[in-house]
Amino acid sequence: MKRHAFWEWFDEYAAPRLAIREISFRKIFEYLDTIQDPITIVETGCARQADNWAGDGQSTVLFDQYVKSRIADAIVHTVDLSPEATNACKAMVSDKVFIHTGDSVAVLPRIARQLNTEGRRIDLLYLDSYDLDWQNPTPSSVHHLKELVSIISKLNPDTLVVVDDSAMICRAVADAENKLNLISEPVAGGKSTYVAQYAAQVGAQLRFSHYQIGWTNLVTDTWS
Ligand SMILES: C[S@@+](CC[C@H](N)C(=O)[O-])C[C@H]1O[C@@H](n2cnc3c(N)ncnc32)[C@H](O)[C@@H]1O
Repeated sequence: MKRHAFWEWFDEYAAPRLAIREISFRKIFEYLDTIQDPITIVETGCARQADNWAGDGQSTVLFDQYVKSRIADAIVHTVDLSPEATNACKAMVSDKVFIHTGDSVAVLPRIARQLNTEGRRIDLLYLDSYDLDWQNPTPSSVHHLKELVSIISKLNPDTLVVVDDSAMICRAVADAENKLNLISEPVAGGKSTYVAQYAAQVGAQLRFSHYQIGWTNLVTDTWS
């Protein structure tokens, strides 16, 4: 699949199914189009159910289609704790996707070492593991911060780091007509709660904030 064929597929097939993730997936692939070959994508939380576009997002399927549109050695590494999920994912993607079963915090450093051996950088780090409970986002958002810690030494300033399930959170008060007035600035919530705080503290460049949130310049130097 060539690049224009990917975009035709994305516009006609994927975009109408992606619901609240369409705009940010489009921004992800537009960004990757600016990055030179060979593209490497690392993901936590693989696609676990065929055709679940609006619910989960089908990220691994999207990334597989994208790397197939780049030169031959573009690849995806994805890690998931659940053997059921990784088995289901295997049936949905090509051999350009390397699927790891295990705890992402433990497996990400191994992927980083392998990429170092192969002389590969990470162009997109997509974090979407540990299912989020919007009523109690802390366990999931702490896990996503741990994922960032476990792979941060492999990031470079151009690595796009994206966290799914990151709608903004703010306080609002209804007026006499029940119109909501914001009484606090919206901040990134959900899975990215602590990653977003870290990103702000280190002066990362916010690229977009929709249902997914993405930054570059989470690190200032390339360490390896
Ligand atoms: C929301 S789903 C991923 C959806 C997928 N990104 C998509 O777009 O279709 C979250 C996945 O994270 C996995 N998960 C939960 N805890 C994990 C952990 N500690 N390490 C790796 N994966 C984990 C779950 O098994 C589940 O398959």
